[in-house]
Amino acid sequence: MKRKVTKAIFPVAGLGTRFLPATKSIPKEIMTLVDRPLIQYAIDEARAAGIKEFIFVTSRGKGALEDYFDNAPILEQELRKKGKNELLEVLKDTNMDSGAIAYIRQHKALGLGHAVWCARRLINNNEPFAVILPDDVIAAEKPCLQQMVEAYEDTGGCMVAAMEVPSEKSSSYGILDVKGDLGTMVSVKGMVEKPSAEQAPSNLAVIGRYILTPKVLQSLNRMKSGAGGEIQLTDAIAEEINQDRDVYGYRFRGERFDCGSKAGFLRATVAFGMARPELRDEFTSYLEDMVSLTKAAE
Ligand code: G1P
Repeated sequence: MKRKVTKAIFPVAGLGTRFLPATKSIPKEIMTLVDRPLIQYAIDEARAAGIKEFIFVTSRGKGALEDYFDNAPILEQELRKKGKNELLEVLKDTNMDSGAIAYIRQHKALGLGHAVWCARRLINNNEPFAVILPDDVIAAEKPCLQQMVEAYEDTGGCMVAAMEVPSEKSSSYGILDVKGDLGTMVSVKGMVEKPSAEQAPSNLAVIGRYILTPKVLQSLNRMKSGAGGEIQLTDAIAEEINQDRDVYGYRFRGERFDCGSKAGFLRATVAFGMARPELRDEFTSYLEDMVSLTKAAE
């Protein structure tokens, strides 16, 4: 029987320079879509997939993330006094059991592979683990990682979320070299980090959800810097393939938003705003007005 995936690593050490000046004093993972920070979406998705232990790889200036998942006795007391039970309920999503969340510091910004490697001592031998990049927000009926965990129960090995991207965008992603197309999944014979359009082996890109074996952490022990001078997770997963171990790309059902970019973040804000029952009518009619005003001005 395959081991259950119960731990997830959240690399949250990045400086978020694309969102300066906002990220001068707040971690980008605290930026909100409607009223929930990006990290909350990532945690909700992990919980839905059965994750019980949450490992944050952080860096200097990320204290707000720790506070966010801490108890807030004064706030709670105040809400209770005022009878604001709905808000108390909302806060429950930010509660963590004692010991369920761990923070590890990445002392140097050496890349995603290095960030994941920093958590190596918290992953046991033979214990599969997930990695979630909170910049990639995925709206889906069944949360993306849950879809993957279910598929992984049959496959084992390593699995990455995958999505087709236009070839001119391949230099923003890890790209899969496909061995066999199995429908929802593909088996993979290679992975390249951020290739040019000409060098991309396919148009199937890695999106920030991974299920990995601890062997990847061992490879990361030996990993040298790759694309962009950084230690790449993609290269360590590709090493699994070199060792004849199975790696799969999983074509998830859902819409992915690149919240690491301003345009993607704005799109997500619109989509999540429109999905909220309490905002839908007002927000949709505002957007319709905006569109017709813009058209009229053309
Ligand atoms: C990272 C990974 C890349 C992946 C991407 C998905 O890149 O290195 O393989 O395709 O996330 O969002 P980053 O966006 O951190 O540069």
